[in-house]
Amino acid sequence: MSTTINAPAQRLLGKVAVVTGGASGIGASIVRLFHSHGAKVCIADVQDDLGQKLCDSFCDPENVYFVHCDVAVETDVSDAVYNTVGKFGTLDIMVNNAGISGAPCPDIRNVDMSEFDKVFDINVKGVFHGMKHAAHFLIPKKSGSIISISSVSSSLGGTGPHGIQAPSMLCGG
Ligand SMILES: NC(=O)c1ccc[n+]([C@@H]2O[C@H](COP(=O)([O-])OP(=O)(O)OC[C@H]3O[C@@H](n4cnc5c(N)ncnc54)[C@H](O)[C@@H]3O)[C@@H](O)[C@H]2O)c1
Repeated sequence: MSTTINAPAQRLLGKVAVVTGGASGIGASIVRLFHSHGAKVCIADVQDDLGQKLCDSFCDPENVYFVHCDVAVETDVSDAVYNTVGKFGTLDIMVNNAGISGAPCPDIRNVDMSEFDKVFDINVKGVFHGMKHAAHFLIPKKSGSIISISSVSSSLGGTGPHGIQAPSMLCGG
């Protein structure tokens, strides 16, 4: 479902964006908003069915496409960025939105470190992968935006599972 905004009011007309975690939640809303403002959008997510369904809902294959992308895998992110530039000709906006909270575990002594690693691979390395590969295109043209979505849990203690809280715990939050 997409809303149409009159062309003169479209603030992203002709801009090209990659939205990680774009298949659902906040990411899907960003995709809809960007598309309504005239942007060409790559939906990059691990949820193939949902991502493709959202993509199909626009009935606009010229301007929206889905790509399978696990942000924890650097080549998935570079492929998403390079394929988007190949398809739409440039990149203007990288939205690093994909993120997870990790499984709740009230007692730090019982934290499963593989779960902790998973949160860091997606929330920290995944965001860095997006910044790194977007920079390949944004630095040479000296324009563009990198938007990375975070949580208050990374700066304020007591608001989530240990993996997502680690930055605030280490900094005394
Ligand atoms: N919802 C909130 O209240 C809230 C609050 C603070 C911060 N955030 C942040 O906003 C962002 C989006 O949150 P949301 O509530 O929409 O979450 P959500 O779980 O509804 O959506 C997250 C999306 O990211 C995708 N995703 C998960 N792992 C991925 C991976 N490895 N590679 C690519 N895609 C992946 C999921 O498939 C999903 O489509 C997250 O970074 C989250 O930390 C959300």
